[in-house]
This record gives sequence, C-alpha cells and structure tokens, in this order.
Amino acid sequence: MAKISCDDSLFQALSGKVVVLTGGATGIGRSTVQQFCEHGAKVVFGDIHDKAAEKLALMLGSSVVFQHCDITVYDQQLALFERAENRFGGVDIVVANAGVLNPDDRFAPSQDLTVEPRFPEIDVNLKGSLYTTRIGLDYLRRHKGGDLVLLSSIAGFKEAGGLTPYLASKHGIIGILRGLRLTTGPTIRVNAVSPWMTRTAMVHGIEDGWINQGLPVNQPSDVARAVLICATANRGSGKTHPGCRLPFNGKNLFVAGSEAYEIEDKLWELEPVWLGEDNSKALEKGQSYLAADQTQW
Ligand SMILES: NC(=O)c1ccc[n+]([C@@H]2O[C@H](COP(=O)([O-])OP(=O)(O)OC[C@H]3O[C@@H](n4cnc5c(N)ncnc54)[C@H](O)[C@@H]3O)[C@@H](O)[C@H]2O)c1
Repeated sequence: MAKISCDDSLFQALSGKVVVLTGGATGIGRSTVQQFCEHGAKVVFGDIHDKAAEKLALMLGSSVVFQHCDITVYDQQLALFERAENRFGGVDIVVANAGVLNPDDRFAPSQDLTVEPRFPEIDVNLKGSLYTTRIGLDYLRRHKGGDLVLLSSIAGFKEAGGLTPYLASKHGIIGILRGLRLTTGPTIRVNAVSPWMTRTAMVHGIEDGWINQGLPVNQPSDVARAVLICATANRGSGKTHPGCRLPFNGKNLFVAGSEAYEIEDKLWELEPVWLGEDNSKALEKGQSYLAADQTQW
C-alpha cells in the first residue's frame, strides 16, 4: 500500500466545479459537502433526512442545494441530477455516499426462516449506488468527463461477523469500481474510499468500546478529505497528491486513524504471488480477451 498525503493546493481545481452527492445530511456526507463548498465547488446533495439537510444547505448558502432524494428510488436520483444540471449547468464530480448499516444478524440460527428478510444494505448501499453510478456516468459524459467517487468500507475487503448483508453491499461497491475502471478512463475516473471506524451515527453503538480498545478512529472530515483527494488527484496537470500514482483511476483509499492509504495497486502487483505466476499470466490473457471490442457474450 502507499500512504497518501494531501496537497491542499490541488483543491483550487474545485472552484466552480459542480458536485452531486448522496446522503449529505449527516456524517461523512455532510463533512464532504462542507469541504467541497469551502473550496468553491457548487454542490447539489440528496438525502432522506430533510430537516438536517435543509439546515446544512441554509448554513452554506446559495452554492449548496438540497433536494430530497431516496437513492433507492430511481426517479428521485434522476431528478437530483437534473436539478444540478438546471441550476449549475452540468456535473463534474459525483459522490455515491449514502449508506445504511443494519446490525440485526439475519443469518443467526434463532431467525424465523418463514419470514422474508429485508436487506436495506443491498437496496440502499448497493442498488442505490448502482443507480447513482449509472446516472452519474451519463451526466459526466455529457460534460466531457469528471470524477466518480464511491463509498465502500473496510467491510468491502475484510470480514466482520454478523454484518453479512453490509459486507456483501460494500464488496459490491468494489465490484462497481473494478467493473468500470477498464472502460471509463481517462476522461472519467472511478475511485473508491474505504473508511475504517469513523465517528458518525452509523457506528455510535460501538464507539466507546472501540476507543477503549485503543483502535484507530477517523473523524468524518478525514474521510471527506479522502473523497476530495480522489476528486482532484487527476486535476493538477501532472501534479498530484503525494503518494498517488497517475492516472488515478480504479484506486481504493483505505482510511484509518485519519490517514489514507491506496490499497488497490498492491493487489495488482502481488497477483502473481497471490494466485501463482501461471494463473496470473493466464488470467491477464483472459481479461484482455473479455475486454476486447470484438468479444461478444
Ligand atoms: N462511519 C463509519 O465508520 C463508516 C465506515 C465505512 C464506511 N462508511 C460508509 O460511509 C457512508 C456514510 O456513512 P456515515 O458513517 O456518514 O453514516 P451516517 O448515517 O451519518 O450518514 C449516512 C447518510 O445517508 C443517508 N441515507 C440513508 N439512507 C438513504 C437513502 N435511502 N437515500 C438517501 N440518503 C440516505 C442518511 O440519512 C445519512 O444522512 C456510508 O456509505 C457508510 O456505509 C462509514
């Protein structure tokens, strides 16, 4: 992995850019809206938590617009992007941030099998982010490219007992990242941010125990900064944030204890060790075949 530092001067590139973000009323999303606004971007954000969102928009002024948007409803996401286009003339940066975590273990032996389970993590975190990605890419294409930043989690690449649907949803976000990175660049860059424990309402229940264990903690602003790093890494005319490797596309920033680390490049580098040299070589050939224009499923 590579430790990523932040070169604040690159944030100048955000001035006048238009950002669409989901889940901006609280936590990481709220801090991200604030940081984009501080650096001169115009932000249209959605959420279902209207009261907190309206208060934030009012506080930040006319360059920040809130619109109610439940990301599980496709039409509401279409309307969110349309609002950004109508109000600010296009979209440069998309952040798929909204998410939920349901701590009920729906795989526990005590569960009643005859009752159909609900999986809001899949509906919101995965399906909602797929909607944001689909619509967002179209708006970025219309505006000659830009950046899509996805919120995954440490749960996107590590195990955690009792949170299976959440893990499935966040592994799915890494699937979106890997599914797109070969085809969208260089005009559209797709990157992910994968925070470890970050002090927001989502993890309130474990906060005291976590801190008592002396484990690393992020503030929402640390994760927001990682989102801004992803959104600006390619905007410095060859200059980038220390530690970032250009082109910054298909990368995943793990954020722990307020520090950001890029973790996707190392996986590529170590693939021959992980899968064996022969498998790795064969896989590369297979992937090239699948990616070729003439290959039909
Ligand atoms: N807090 C952490 O430790 C942590 C760690 C890893 C990843 N994450 C991810 O970061 C993202 C932000 O989470 P957070 O920690 O700020 O939590 P949070 O609960 O403070 O914020 C989530 C926001 O999403 C909104 N939201 C929920 N369902 C929605 C829907 N259907 N449509 C629109 N908005 C909706 C909520 O109203 C809220 O404002 C999530 O994707 C979460 O999975 C958080």
